Amino acid sequence: MPVSATTVVFTGAAEVALCSGPCRGGEGADPAAVVPGGAVAVAGGRIVAVGEQSELLATHPQAERIDCAGGVLTPGLVDSHTHAVFGRWRTEEYALRCAGVPYMEIARRGGGINASVRDLRARSEDELVELALPRLAEMLACGTTTAEVKSGYGLTTEDELKTLRAIRRLGALQPIDLVATFLGGHEFPPEHRSTPEERERYVDLLCTEMIPAVAAEGLARFCDVFMEPGVFDRAQTERVLRAGLDHGLRPKLHADELEGSGGAELAAELGAASADHLGDVSADGIRALAASGTVATLLPGTLFFLGRPRFAPARALLDAGATVAIATDFNPGSCPSPNLQFTMTAACSRMGMSPAESLRAATAGGAAALELADGRGTLAVGAPADLVLWRASAAGEIPYRLAAPIVAGVWKGGERVV
Ligand code: NIG
Ligand code: FE
Repeated sequence: MPVSATTVVFTGAAEVALCSGPCRGGEGADPAAVVPGGAVAVAGGRIVAVGEQSELLATHPQAERIDCAGGVLTPGLVDSHTHAVFGRWRTEEYALRCAGVPYMEIARRGGGINASVRDLRARSEDELVELALPRLAEMLACGTTTAEVKSGYGLTTEDELKTLRAIRRLGALQPIDLVATFLGGHEFPPEHRSTPEERERYVDLLCTEMIPAVAAEGLARFCDVFMEPGVFDRAQTERVLRAGLDHGLRPKLHADELEGSGGAELAAELGAASADHLGDVSADGIRALAASGTVATLLPGTLFFLGRPRFAPARALLDAGATVAIATDFNPGSCPSPNLQFTMTAACSRMGMSPAESLRAATAGGAAALELADGRGTLAVGAPADLVLWRASAAGEIPYRLAAPIVAGVWKGGERVV
């Protein structure tokens, strides 16, 4: 996309939420760093100034102006955990779950992740791209300008490569910046699950064939594993993540999602970029994450959609000094919503985060979980000019409005895309 060299000043905002500054812990009174009546100047695809509107207009007298009409300006949202490339939806499972059948039981009956695996294996790379494009457009319309996307519905070398190649193509076909994660360790596929020996053979395949192939094509930045009782155990998870590290893939981890099993502790020990879910993280796990700097990525939309009564202990994580991100987990099974604004509401209403903390976690927190150090997720000078304008009179209204369509505009690298 051509980048405009003209300076543009966003004026007339009720509030500008910078989301910049230190990212760890609760950060006192103002984690979203809100500037009432603030303005933002953008040139060459980057933010060149932020501050009081009168000052910015005085220093940029020739600039074009975009009137925010009393709305709220925030950084583009950074959704650091999605499974956005998949085949069909799994609508039939929702009816079962509403009738009380648990997520893991549906998986045991042949639904769950392996239902999506059977489906994705039968599709071409082109089809996956076609199916994902409108979903990414929905994400963008909800204010997301950077997103992580995982593989993990292929579970053979060819089908995982097909998925990751689709993600790479999608990154070039639409405005959201995509960061790819290899999640071959999402489940044991049907042909490798009947005996413990078969399962070990699948772990071998991940380490000796899939990870080297993914790394050789430069198709992913991260390597992730679903460590959960009944899925990958600690030893298997560690083998996969260490093989990833040997091939330059930074670790991430689906950790302690439904039943704690030391996932947070392992993530911290390996210096993982993030430990995600943490619905049943232990006290030791919380301390380990805070000490290591591994980002705690919380996905309350998933636990909401699964109808689980208990959510991740966001307050304990923040109070311990951990960096907290929130993300959608957008996928056809446990969270079919790409709406990170809704996730913010769930973070506030179900995990005790403040509205300002939830905004911070959905922007700068997400960027930290993706190890993006270019200022993304903040409105700091030098950061990419990724902005969302909300029809709201205060930043706190964004989670308060509970998935209402209040996105008035989205800019990516300074260009309007919504
Ligand atoms: O993050 N936990 C594992 N993976 C996804 C669910 C994927 C699916 O059900 O298709 C998750 O919740
Ligand atoms: Fe997930």
